[in-house]
Parts: sequence; structure tokens; C-alpha cells
Amino acid sequence: MEKKCSMSRFAVGIVLTAALSATYACQQDKPASSEMRSLTSLNSAVAAENTTAAAMTGQELYTANCAVCHSMRPPAKTAPPVVGLASRFRTVYGNKSDAVDAMVSFMKNPDAGKSALGPQAIKRFGLMPAMAMSDGDLEKVSGWLWDQYDPDFDTGGGGNCR
Ligand code: HEC
Repeated sequence: MEKKCSMSRFAVGIVLTAALSATYACQQDKPASSEMRSLTSLNSAVAAENTTAAAMTGQELYTANCAVCHSMRPPAKTAPPVVGLASRFRTVYGNKSDAVDAMVSFMKNPDAGKSALGPQAIKRFGLMPAMAMSDGDLEKVSGWLWDQYDPDFDTGGGGNCR
């Protein structure tokens, strides 16, 4: 009696396993398309994120890429504050388009030789690391930086920005 009982449980087990693997096999046939579908939606999520990045304002680009080192105003973090930079670039370049070109060129490939701040700032803060950003974003954040000029924080061309 006992034996029969466990035998039939065994048999049920086999049937169940077979049924389960049949279901599994069935699902195995399909996933290609559903996997494709989730890949496609992943791709569009990534594309949407890229679009968002492209649509970031100068202020948002600053917050995301520059604020860790550049405070808006004194006291300085590990780099000259933005209002000091805006003041310095006005003094050195006099117009927005030349200043933006200089900032973009500097940020792509920082070089003491093309610094608008000069050796004292670089001695104090060290040379800025290159920014891995698109030209468009670099131009946008530079234009935004130029616009942050505040006469109350005019450094008179001193540029080191306390
Ligand atoms: C890891 C820290 C760090 C980050 C991040 C950073 N900077 Fe700087 N930046 C510095 C330091 C340090 C200096 C001062 C020394 C120098 O000029 O290289 C500087 C200098 C500058 C200058 C003056 C360059 C010159 O003529 O000497 C500009 C303009 C500037 N940063 C803009 C930005 C902008 C815009 C961002 C964000 C897209 C940014 N920085 C991100 C550290 C940083």
C-alpha cells in the first residue's frame, strides 16, 4: 500500500515536470519578440534621455557639470566662483562671442597658456580638467556663464575671485 502511494506520487511528479517543461519550452519559442520589444523600449528610453540632455539649459548644465568645483559666488570651492569668471572674461575679451569661444576652447583642452585667469589662479586652484561635453553644451554653458556677470561682484579684472 505504502509503496504504491509513493510510486503514484512519483508518477505525478514526472507528469508535472513534463508539463512544466512543455510550458517552458513553449515560452522559449516566443521570447525573441518580447525581448525585442523590451530592447526597443529600452532604446527609446535612452533616446529620450539623450533628448533631455540636449535640451538642458545653461544653468542645468552648470549644476550638473561645473557646480561641484565652481560656486556661484565667493567663497570659492575648488575653483574660481562663476561671478568672478564672468567679470574676468568681460575684462579680457570684452564681447560675449569671443569670450564663449575662449571658454569652449579652454574647457576642451585646458592649457595654462590660454588661461584668461593667469598663473596665480592656476597656482592656487590647479589647472581645470578637460570637460567631456558636446560643443553645443560647452557653448551653452559658456554663454550662460558670461550672462552671470554681476557688477556687485566685479573683481576689476583681478579674476582670482577670492
Ligand atoms: C574638477 C573641478 C572643475 C570642474 C568640474 C569645472 N571646473 Fe572650471 N575650473 C576649475 C579650476 C581649478 C579652474 C582654475 C584654473 C584654470 O583656469 O584652469 C577653472 C577655471 C575655469 C575657467 C577659466 C579658464 C581660464 O581661462 O583659466 C572657466 C571659464 C571655467 N572653469 C568654466 C567651467 C565650466 C563652465 C565648467 C562646467 C562645464 C567647469 N568649469 C567645470 C575646476 C573645475
